[in-house]
Amino acid sequence: PADLYGASRRNSRGFNMANDADLHALAAQISAADRTWTATPLVPGFTAGSPDRGVTNPADRRQRVGAWQAADAALVQRALDTAVKAQPAWDRGGVEPRAQALLKAADLLEERRPELIALCVREAGKSLAAAIAEVREAVDFLRYYAQQARGQFGTPLTLPGPTGESNQLHLHGRGVFVCISPWNFPLAIYVGQVAAALVAGNAVIAKPAEQTTLVAHLATTLLHHAGVPAEVLQFLPGDGGTVGAALTSDARVAGVAFTGSTETAWAINRALAARNAPIAALVAETGGQNAMIADSSSLPEQVVKDALVSAFDSAGQRCSAARVLLVQDDIADKVMTMLAGAMAELVVGDPANLSTDVGPVIDEDARRTLQAHIERMHREARLIHAVTLPESVSHGCFVAPHAFEIPALSVLEREVFGPVLHVLRYRSRDLDAVIDQVNATGYGLTLGVHSRIDDTVEHIVSRVRAGNCYVNRNQVGAVVGVQPFGGEGLSGTGPKAGGPHYLARFASERTVTINT
Ligand code: NAD
Ligand code: ALA
Repeated sequence: PADLYGASRRNSRGFNMANDADLHALAAQISAADRTWTATPLVPGFTAGSPDRGVTNPADRRQRVGAWQAADAALVQRALDTAVKAQPAWDRGGVEPRAQALLKAADLLEERRPELIALCVREAGKSLAAAIAEVREAVDFLRYYAQQARGQFGTPLTLPGPTGESNQLHLHGRGVFVCISPWNFPLAIYVGQVAAALVAGNAVIAKPAEQTTLVAHLATTLLHHAGVPAEVLQFLPGDGGTVGAALTSDARVAGVAFTGSTETAWAINRALAARNAPIAALVAETGGQNAMIADSSSLPEQVVKDALVSAFDSAGQRCSAARVLLVQDDIADKVMTMLAGAMAELVVGDPANLSTDVGPVIDEDARRTLQAHIERMHREARLIHAVTLPESVSHGCFVAPHAFEIPALSVLEREVFGPVLHVLRYRSRDLDAVIDQVNATGYGLTLGVHSRIDDTVEHIVSRVRAGNCYVNRNQVGAVVGVQPFGGEGLSGTGPKAGGPHYLARFASERTVTINT
């Protein structure tokens, strides 16, 4: 469907821009907004207290965005009791009412688009264009999974058998699914996980990231308004180490959908394995140490434009973002000079401003971690360019975009989740050694290739471990149903979000054989 592609275009630097006529008005509304939001756990029978955890705008910490209340251990137990009781009827009710609820929720999200966009900008520091794309993606997930579920869960698959025997394969819900989401796609990933688990016939307990509870709360209420019973979808905001850990160590949980860091995925995997319980399904989508490889046949202008977007869009806070640009030595100096020139044009600032390319990072912890990495790179690598932060961002959590030429990939110890691009030059004869270094990181999320030689493209794509490979373009912004998204190795378990195999992991299969 046309709406899968969203409404976006790219500005002169290649950054995604929305083309709605009312955008300027929306930007002004968000900047001026003094509106605040609250979020409390949504568990039937629970009476909310007063939200005591404040939320401030990452772009300006003086600006209050709202407050939320965390769940406690007793509420975790209550939510699990409720979910276990509610799930069988939701599953037995069939796929059609579940798909209808997702479609209705998609319409409601579209109706509340300005508010959802404002929340993504003010709570998560998303640029206006990224916030618009985020709402679009959430809506796409709802419609795509509704459509997929009708095909996969509606009519059982009829299988061959001898005369006098019928064989059918049915899909149904597994039981209670826990959905744990990150802050960097606070709406799209939250809604995508929850929608998939629900439409497959599971009861869901959703735990959003601590940093982005408000937008997840609003999305949950819209799903309830769309017809998902309150017992079937419960909302449990809280810390990962307490609420998340309590949920994933409970024997009643049949599956976990997790998106976040590889370290947290390991912790969840250990918690699930330590239970004396049926083995749970785990869908984990995690981090990456993503490379873009450009050989000497590529167009330097195109490489720089695509590297800029891949590394600095969303302030580099995309799991798909390019962290290292590997450039063949013949064009390396030219590419680095052009990169420095292009970075000098980047506009860092208020994400509600339409001309902003790079907004804030999520919080002070992230800023400090990134600053420490940048300081280390100043010692161990050669600076290509550092953007100067404008005075106007001094009250926010901003990190200046940096590019460094590094001596080897091994200087990157772990995922660098922010606006830092590392460049490594390689000689043609060393291409396979470079590919080995990329694979040696253990991650396998996205790969960018720039080359006009088909054999080289085929050689690289077939050897680098990566779930999403992009050739002669940027490597961020996978579209639901068009570029199913997810990694291999340390980057995730699969199946791919927004792809045709995703829902099956949320389901149990039952073969029914009848002697007719
Ligand atoms: P994170 O792992 O710190 O947190 C993710 C979620 O896990 C949060 O809701 C958190 O509260 C929860 N959590 C933390 N500890 C837990 C525990 N012990 N048990 C249960 N839950 C726990 O990740 P983050 O900082 O929110 O997100 C950034 C990371 O997410 C990056 O590594 C990024 O690459 C990754 N990411 C991956 C994808 C993908 O599709 N592969 C998409 C977006 C983000
Ligand atoms: N799905 C997101 C992207 O492709 C992470 O950038």
